[in-house]
Amino acid sequence: MIIEREQDVTAAALAVMERTSDPRLRQIMASAIKHLHAFVREVEPTEAEWFTAIDWLTRTGKMCTGKRQEFILASDVFGVSMLVDAINHRFASGATPTTVEGPFHVADAPPLEHGENMAGGAPGIPCYVTGVVKGLDGAPVAGAVLDLWQTDGEGLYEAQRDVEGPWMRGLYRTRDDGTYLVRTVAPIAYTIPMDGTIGELMNRTDISHMRPAHIHFCVTAPGYHRLVTHLFQRGDTFIETDVVYGVKEPLIVEFEKKPAGKAPSGEVVDEPFYVVRYDFVLDRAAQAAIAAE
Ligand code: BEZ
Ligand code: FE
Repeated sequence: MIIEREQDVTAAALAVMERTSDPRLRQIMASAIKHLHAFVREVEPTEAEWFTAIDWLTRTGKMCTGKRQEFILASDVFGVSMLVDAINHRFASGATPTTVEGPFHVADAPPLEHGENMAGGAPGIPCYVTGVVKGLDGAPVAGAVLDLWQTDGEGLYEAQRDVEGPWMRGLYRTRDDGTYLVRTVAPIAYTIPMDGTIGELMNRTDISHMRPAHIHFCVTAPGYHRLVTHLFQRGDTFIETDVVYGVKEPLIVEFEKKPAGKAPSGEVVDEPFYVVRYDFVLDRAAQAAIAAE
């Protein structure tokens, strides 16, 4: 197509995309062109601004390694990760909602016994997380696997600590009555990595770069939809301003402060500690598929 007017560029690019034989790719690319062109028409970037954007994208790509994924962080802070998560996990009402997985999950967490301490010698206030994993009908789910990861009491994940071996993560299994018991230390609010291109961009905005204190969970059980979620500490300063938009009301929980004494595990703790009670409700895999239709 010969371009005669400014408007022709969009029509020409769309017409080219229309010739893509893969129907899904055709739909995605046509939509991408439509929205990208609309964005450029609205913003009317100068050429210098456009090259700044391309340079930022280039540097973002160059920062990505096996351990660092700056594009995922971009998707997180632009709210896109939460939107993709919501679209893909339309669980039945009553099921525990999902939230963003984030970049700090490490596979192959060590299997731990009921009530075993996943914090080892990590700094922080002792914290017990306990409850039941159940189905929508209230029936307990035995043998469900809970994969947990979180910051220590200084706000650092394993990837941010110079440690050998697992740090602040573990695999627990529910007992026959569906109960689980985790011994850990309380997480604290922390900043997303700000030393890259996302930090550079955020430092030019007024957006808070903090995430409220939370513990990550991936709960799996045969016949149920995989649940990736967090529990957030009620009252955290940043609960309303989570930089990745991950907070959902049902995921905000009380971290009940207890004086030194007997903990839910039966052991005696010689300093104040927290107890968090939470029942995870899993959606049946078949029901989840029906709800998504
Ligand atoms: C996190 O929860 O660890 C996280 C999620 C998204 C971006 C950065 C950190
Ligand atoms: Fe996190």
